[in-house]
Amino acid sequence: MRNTGPIAIVSAMQEEVSKLVELMNGEPTTVGSRVFWLAHWHGHPVIAVLSGIGKVAAATTVATLIERFGVKEVIFSGVAGGLGDDVKVGDVVVAKELVQHDFDASPLFPRYEIPLYARSHFPSSPLQHQCLVQAAQASLPGLARAMQGEHLLAGLGVNAQDILVHEGLVVSGDQFISNNAQREDLRARLPLALAAEMEGAAVAQVCFDFKVPFAAVRVISDRADDSASLNFTQFIEEVAAPYGAHVIQTYLEMRPTHD
Ligand code: ADE
Repeated sequence: MRNTGPIAIVSAMQEEVSKLVELMNGEPTTVGSRVFWLAHWHGHPVIAVLSGIGKVAAATTVATLIERFGVKEVIFSGVAGGLGDDVKVGDVVVAKELVQHDFDASPLFPRYEIPLYARSHFPSSPLQHQCLVQAAQASLPGLARAMQGEHLLAGLGVNAQDILVHEGLVVSGDQFISNNAQREDLRARLPLALAAEMEGAAVAQVCFDFKVPFAAVRVISDRADDSASLNFTQFIEEVAAPYGAHVIQTYLEMRPTHD
């Protein structure tokens, strides 16, 4: 495990990366079709990058971060659809482990198992995970403020006081879960899943390959149901981008500058 090198911050949406780049005053370097934004921020060398949406885009981005930039850890920040009964829009989920819900090499291997790894679940790293949970909790007042965005709060039926930080299973696949049938199918197949997104398990697998610590935080933008795409862009701009940046700054403040 590396103790030197930058901390990588990866997001799938442009609005989230733009917010980070603006705050940290990043300098761009292009590799392939990704722009890597380098900065010194809160006492750490940091690289922010837009992975784009989906598992392949996320995996190639993180492989580049590790091989080309020698990052010492990878933090994913983004949004997800809530699957758990008590996981509401506006809540935060910090991934303890991740599964590719669309991976199926059965009958050769059990469903979800990734051949050669003999596992389906990829864990986040305990130290980074704990620090991210603390950063998410410490940032809740900032999230509550972001949720005050005039139309949004009323439209989403969120009470800022009720926002929770959850820890547990996050499932990833190359699908935006946007109808009740998909949602119920996922919940039946993976009953412990708290949230669905499109990158995390791929990033966790690449980090596992290279033994690079990994953790992921997601703000719940929707309930992965028939109304999932309503308000989505507005939610990213008004809530996920400022809140994500807030959590990352708090995380960097909490991480020791030398391990
Ligand atoms: N990211 C945010 N909401 C999502 C959903 N419903 N499905 C997949 N990824 C998401």
